[in-house]
Amino acid sequence: MIKVIKVEDYQQVSEEAFKVMKEVVANNPKAVLGLATGSSPIGLYKLMIADHNENGTSYKDITTFNLDEYVGLPVEHPESYYSFMHRNLFDHIDINEENIHIPSSLGDDLQKNCDDYNAAMADWQVDIQLLGIGSDGHIGFNEPGTPFDSVTHITDLKESTIVDNARFFDNDISKVPTQAITMGISNVMSAKKILMVANGKNKAQAIFDTINGPVTEEVPASILQKHNDVVIIVDREAAALLD
Ligand code: GLP
Repeated sequence: MIKVIKVEDYQQVSEEAFKVMKEVVANNPKAVLGLATGSSPIGLYKLMIADHNENGTSYKDITTFNLDEYVGLPVEHPESYYSFMHRNLFDHIDINEENIHIPSSLGDDLQKNCDDYNAAMADWQVDIQLLGIGSDGHIGFNEPGTPFDSVTHITDLKESTIVDNARFFDNDISKVPTQAITMGISNVMSAKKILMVANGKNKAQAIFDTINGPVTEEVPASILQKHNDVVIIVDREAAALLD
């Protein structure tokens, strides 16, 4: 079941998302968080950092699993998702580095990295999975056409995703990686609770299709209609096509 929370702007999206996240972390100091990259969660991460600093909310026993990682970027590249997560969250809270899981695109056996990630995930139950959404309805890097029963795998990015993400690479599409390792859709769906944040008019069609469209592999996020605990928080622009 999807609960939709419509708010005015990005700041309010982040504040509502923080309330949901805080409840999970406050109720269970050992919670397992599924985390996401992209610009959408940054406001939430800022509020989590402020709350850690001001109220002492601790992450020392929290475990995290990130959705995805680019293939072909060294971890120290500022746009690797490893760097992104440390810069925007992990470096500013008291999380234990050994409790952080991010798919690895290092080495030459990427399939083994995927298998290892699935094996690591199998030992844990994700309490809350945070998601942004691609303008084509992708979640993680599960692009349209990805089977709903997929697990962590190597994927080719769609042209539209490469164009969308070029803003992080000097607006130069030739610098954007063309492949990624991503949790699969069934990994995402196995979380107890799913929290999606979306803002801006670029997301309006994908949000409409996710909530009101048919459940189809052509819109990966539409599978969320089959999950029993989903909260989607949208600003006015992303909600524009909802009634
Ligand atoms: C990337 C990430 C997704 C993210 C999407 C939207 O492709 N792999 O996890 O949801 O971009 O990003 P943004 O929030 O910057 O719009």
